[in-house]
Amino acid sequence: MNENEKRVLMVIFGGSGDLAHRKLYPALFELYLKGQLAEHFAVIGTARRPWTHDYFRETVAANLNVGTTVQQQAFVQHFYYQSHDVQDADHYIILKKLIDSLDQEYDLGGNRIFYMAMRPALFGTIAAHLKSEHLLSSAGYNRLIIEKPFGHDYQSALALNEAVISTFARDQVYRIDHYLGKEMIQNIPYLRFDNPVLAAVWNRDYIDNIQITLAERLGVEERGGYYETAGALRDMVQNHIMQIIAMLAMPKPNDFNDAAITAARREVFTHLHQYSAAEVPQKFIRGQYGPSTDGQALGYRQEDKIAPKSNVETFVAGEIRLDLPQWQGVPFYVRTGKRLPLKKTRIDIVFKAAAKNLFGAEKLAEPVLTIEVEPEMRLSWHLNTKEIGQSTAAIPRELVFTLPEREAAQVPDAYERLILDAINGRRSNFVSWQDMAGAWQFVDGIRQVWEQCQCPKFPNYASGTMGPLAAEELLQKTGRTWIFKD
Ligand code: BG6
Repeated sequence: MNENEKRVLMVIFGGSGDLAHRKLYPALFELYLKGQLAEHFAVIGTARRPWTHDYFRETVAANLNVGTTVQQQAFVQHFYYQSHDVQDADHYIILKKLIDSLDQEYDLGGNRIFYMAMRPALFGTIAAHLKSEHLLSSAGYNRLIIEKPFGHDYQSALALNEAVISTFARDQVYRIDHYLGKEMIQNIPYLRFDNPVLAAVWNRDYIDNIQITLAERLGVEERGGYYETAGALRDMVQNHIMQIIAMLAMPKPNDFNDAAITAARREVFTHLHQYSAAEVPQKFIRGQYGPSTDGQALGYRQEDKIAPKSNVETFVAGEIRLDLPQWQGVPFYVRTGKRLPLKKTRIDIVFKAAAKNLFGAEKLAEPVLTIEVEPEMRLSWHLNTKEIGQSTAAIPRELVFTLPEREAAQVPDAYERLILDAINGRRSNFVSWQDMAGAWQFVDGIRQVWEQCQCPKFPNYASGTMGPLAAEELLQKTGRTWIFKD
């Protein structure tokens, strides 16, 4: 066994599903190609459908786009399928038999990861059965990975958490937010804390505002059923955007270990400024896409599984504040939406502008540090520099670093990184319960006001545009503007 190789049995609930096939199996295959998984691993996919092992292996192989056919075939031999009704205790007895035999066959040392890639309503039931039917091992480790959505508000998230921690110890639970596995999000603490020059100005004295844009070109596609129960606030703000804010705003961890990083992030989630009911409409706006102006793309209300009069938001923009001395008065402007002109995930850190040009009278541009997360991985700095020639004017210029293609190709997919973290027992890239609770309480405060006040007239932006006008006005009324414009 090579020194990197891990021993693990992974049981995936929702093993026939889209997430497992699109994300989890390709991520495991990457780990296999890199030697992190070799001989001593097995995967059991479970779902209700009556698939055979061979059919399951074919579906797994069909989603692998790298490696040779020989490698793919060798990999999928580690996959097993168990038709399973999560409500039926007898089915866990059958599953246990398979687990025990694979544990022996692959010499896995009792290391088990249970991966919940299905409807959250069933997580508690599954966790309870894992315990009552003795599927947890006493020899190795037992870990539980949970996909979002983790509840649909604070109360339901709390109930879900209670159900899960009645079986698993808190430090066995890994709540996934795949944004935490993205390379450029992981880069943020390095930028902040490994460059004293940036660390020194990363505060209210030098930063005017921070802008986070998570724009998506696609609409809700085939996920209408889920999206109708979620909306953009729950789907993107409660989790991904909040996690990005934590990376941008957390104090420097005392150490590079899980406990210290988790404690630093908690500082942010316990200091989210809660708005009063009167403030919410001033601070958060919502939108829903209609058809594109050329009529080519449908509006949200015309899509599959969407109510014709749905008031679910597909766009959110808002201002988030932190009650921390370092961030007093610094707005974090966030926006996310479906059917915008392009896919773009980026963060703009807008520094304060100098009062005026040293040699002239004109107003200067604010220096902006931009972190582009996707699709390109890129850093850029807009700095004021002298205009060429006899002029005394200052003009902004952009310094750019783009991750070279060769390096970009080596960047692990978010799921690959996070699954390996879970196998290694590294918890700092997962969401703690306190963070989850803080984010839900904040988002619930907005949602409750929205539910009571009159909805803006939907649709209020055309598919393929940058969202409703109100998103621009949100910044304009403070004399600011979104740095990223399509
Ligand atoms: C998911 C949301 O969590 O994130 C989706 O449910 C969204 O609606 C997706 O499309 C965006 O992730 P990424 O990695 O494509 O930016």
